[in-house]
Amino acid sequence: MELLGNHILSIDQFERPDIEKIFSTSDLLLPYAKRERITRVLKGAILSNMFFEPSTRTRISFGSAFNILGGEVRETTGIEATSLAKGESLYDTSRVLSGYSDIIVMRHHEAGSVNEFAEASRVPVINGGDGDNEHPSQALLDLYTIEKELKSKNKTIDGLRIALIGDLKNGRAVHSLCKVLCLFDNVTINLISPEKLGLPSSIKDSFDDSSVKFHETNDIKKGISDVDIIYMTRIQEERFSDKAESSKYKGLMSLNQDIYTKNCEPNTIIMHPLPRDSRPDANELDPDLNQNPNLAIYRQTDNGLLIRMALFALVLGIESKLEDSASDVIWYSNK
Ligand code: NCD
Repeated sequence: MELLGNHILSIDQFERPDIEKIFSTSDLLLPYAKRERITRVLKGAILSNMFFEPSTRTRISFGSAFNILGGEVRETTGIEATSLAKGESLYDTSRVLSGYSDIIVMRHHEAGSVNEFAEASRVPVINGGDGDNEHPSQALLDLYTIEKELKSKNKTIDGLRIALIGDLKNGRAVHSLCKVLCLFDNVTINLISPEKLGLPSSIKDSFDDSSVKFHETNDIKKGISDVDIIYMTRIQEERFSDKAESSKYKGLMSLNQDIYTKNCEPNTIIMHPLPRDSRPDANELDPDLNQNPNLAIYRQTDNGLLIRMALFALVLGIESKLEDSASDVIWYSNK
């Protein structure tokens, strides 16, 4: 798929060569992300970072990625701070904002909302998460992390064994990740969730035309015993109409060092799209895992910056011009 000038709405848009291109561009951007080099290649460009739903990582990393490339960022957080709260349509909001920006990142609580927004936009739109549907940039950064973590163990994504754990019904990060894994060979996915929070059949259907093999269980100890990667997720309480219902599932799937040591193969990698729910009734990934070198969650978030820089570089067509305006960093940096 041609990235230049295009929207990024679903992970379905990508084939393996596109992913390889995004990953090689991410590698190229490392000196800038690590603050060894500065580039001003997006000088004068404006990103509208429209987050109509809560976010920490996605919003700040998209904004920082744009800043690191030399561009300016305008942003909105929450519907109540915008005219959507006055009844303005996504169509009008998009038409207006696209007149002020060169590119837009948008997150919203309704599935399909970012597509609707993009149809009205005059500039490229990147999906920062639409309801329980998709989160394509998260899937790309997860896949990039998986590739890097496996490489250090002389393994590849072809042949990957991964356990996806938690709220597989509502988790958009998991939905996009499952779809992108279909592009690889001999992937085995253990789907571990409370029975009522299983992966939607629409996503399971995407396994049909792939070589993905999947197994479903609600027994976490069994499901994590034969995998390379554990991918833990949060109960998506904001997707439940009844809060009491969501709290029934909290704490059912949680991992700590003891469970890990007793059940996993040595050096099984632990990932999570974050935020991890660290409240005592949930405790998805216990803090006693923080010193475990196989906990890759912060390598994941660092990779998010690179992937988002790469997406901007490729959509705006500046990936070969990074060094034109580059110089060394002159401030203290220990990254
Ligand atoms: C995820 C999301 O928003 O879907 N967070 C993120 O972007 N890293 C996962 C979650 O909120 O549980």
